[in-house]
Amino acid sequence: MFAKTQGATTLGIDGRIIDVEVDVSNGLPGFELVGLPDASVKESKERVRTAIKNSGIALRQERVTVNLAPAEVRKDSAGLDLPIAVGLLAAYAVLPTEALAKALFAAELSLDGKCRPVSGVLPMAIAARERGLTELFVAAENADEALLIDGVKVYALHSLSELVHHLTGEAALVPAVPGQAAERAEAFSDDFADVQGQFQAKRALEIAAAGGHNVLMVGVPGSGKTMLARRMSSILPALTREEALEVTKIYSIAGLLPPGGGLVTERPFRSPHHTASQTAMIGGGSVPRPGEVTLAHHGVLFLDELPEFSKTTLEVLRQPLEDRRVTISRVHATLTFPSSMILVCAMNPCPCGYHGDATSGHTCECSPSEIRRYTQKMSGPLLDRIDIHIRVPHVKYQELSSRKKAEPSAAIRARVEKARAIESKRLAGAGIFCNAQMNHAMLMELCPVEGEAKTMLELAFQRLHLSARSYDRIIKVARTIADLAGEAHIGAPHIAEAIQLRGDVGLNVE
Ligand SMILES: Nc1ncnc2c1ncn2[C@@H]1O[C@H](COP(=O)(O)OP(=O)(O)O)[C@@H](O)[C@H]1O
Ligand SMILES: [Mg+2]
Repeated sequence: MFAKTQGATTLGIDGRIIDVEVDVSNGLPGFELVGLPDASVKESKERVRTAIKNSGIALRQERVTVNLAPAEVRKDSAGLDLPIAVGLLAAYAVLPTEALAKALFAAELSLDGKCRPVSGVLPMAIAARERGLTELFVAAENADEALLIDGVKVYALHSLSELVHHLTGEAALVPAVPGQAAERAEAFSDDFADVQGQFQAKRALEIAAAGGHNVLMVGVPGSGKTMLARRMSSILPALTREEALEVTKIYSIAGLLPPGGGLVTERPFRSPHHTASQTAMIGGGSVPRPGEVTLAHHGVLFLDELPEFSKTTLEVLRQPLEDRRVTISRVHATLTFPSSMILVCAMNPCPCGYHGDATSGHTCECSPSEIRRYTQKMSGPLLDRIDIHIRVPHVKYQELSSRKKAEPSAAIRARVEKARAIESKRLAGAGIFCNAQMNHAMLMELCPVEGEAKTMLELAFQRLHLSARSYDRIIKVARTIADLAGEAHIGAPHIAEAIQLRGDVGLNVE
């Protein structure tokens, strides 16, 4: 007999429905799995047979062929165990075939017939709905994730036998309902109110958040760079529902969603260690997983102690920073992961950390060649993609010892959100949402610099010998500063502040 049902796998951050066809016929007993299965799916064969046996169902030895279609899609999900088991049981006439047409099955089976959660259930559920499937059967641990999608019935399974009883009508299951954990409240533990002084750095981060600009902070050890960066996500606008779904999809695929957790509602903040490999950074591997740049999508990627990262690791960041997505080539497919984030970098000015900051009370002991070697790692092209470069000075004792709370993140975020609203109105239709994402042509069209502002820009160019790239960066940042001020036109003070923010931070790169 022949039976057909549906399972799913993931490709990049999207789900793909896999048709599972099972044929059982007379002939030499055997079990053949065809249709480009990955190693993890090949093992499925053993798990499925044993799980069925241990669920108390005895099947005659016959010739079994399982085909996974479309053939060209590489299947690497253990979640195909369940649809294969269900298809097999239907082909043996243990289950009615009609029940399978509108259903999607996604769970790994353990040898004793229990259902185990798999990663990527959210994108699978989205794909199922697009295909017109109306019933989703997943492991209980994955139910909350599948429930994020409207218009489908979700069944939370504990075991294969539970599913068999449901499909045969012996003991029907009740569709799952969203748990209490469905949407977590926003609660930032780190707040800008804890940071004393550092007004210029805070202002720079506010501008960065408002325009989506990348930032580099250079300063002596202990000046609060790490502290400042960690508070960046607390001043970014709340995720839109669409963004939240996209972020949740990424974390679902990476297997990083907390059990029972619903939609991710906080902007991601990723801070990979400087020993992170190239693959950890941009994604990849034999079963391609999103890297840090993708896990930071719609949020912040923080590289602390920037010069400690290897040159090759920093080089691979260029594509994701430029294109806002990463492409990973594999034998059977080219995968694309989104990577639209704000890059925040922090570093000391030199190996000992005290170069160029007399107020710290330390004197720098590094030789000029040591300093050059230290800063040379960061190539011009990487630094060119960072719109804002600032120096974070040593904090004064009076400021540190002050008991007065600084401005809280919520107040800063309110200004950021106002500016973003103005930006998205201006950029509507262009497919981008903030000033940093504008290309040169858009910049020319949407951000004219005239009058006094133009004169000031010209003057700065002659005096500071700026490059064409810095020209674009200065105008973009000036546009954001004007948006924060609610001004329709870029004025001279906005240009002046933008020039300061790309200021000389002591690195010999333009
Ligand atoms: N502006 C500040 N306000 C309050 N505390 C600060 C400030 N700057 C530094 N600190 C304190 O000093 C510690 C070290 O700061 P950190 O952010 O690690 O510095 P850096 O990364 O620049 O070396 C922080 O954990 C914090 O306790
Ligand atoms: Mg630090």
